[in-house]
Amino acid sequence: MTFRKVSISTRVFSRRSSILTWVNRRPVLVAKVGDSLYAMDAVCAHLGCAVLAEANGTQVTCPAHEAVWDIRTGALVAEPKVHPEMPCEEEGLRAPLRTYPARERDGFIEVDL
Ligand code: FES
Repeated sequence: MTFRKVSISTRVFSRRSSILTWVNRRPVLVAKVGDSLYAMDAVCAHLGCAVLAEANGTQVTCPAHEAVWDIRTGALVAEPKVHPEMPCEEEGLRAPLRTYPARERDGFIEVDL
């Protein structure tokens, strides 16, 4: 295990539930749920859009086509939608997204990646 320090104070979670950062050249979404930190790849497995969204509890909705991801496991919770009432025709959805252990040390976020 190699935890890497992210130069973001965990105080950020007093204002928001999640934060997008870069760890070892990868975009990673880090969320605080209760007392736990979770980290997940922030590139959507649907069409590769950035998952630039605030976590709602353990769930994060991709702003592009509304796929919903569980940040604890990277599992797909709700399929992406290309049209409002039709599931996406795109093949090859690469779920789950990768997740990483995350923790707080000395007031900063650390991710094992
Ligand atoms: S790219 Fe995320 S739902 Fe389509």
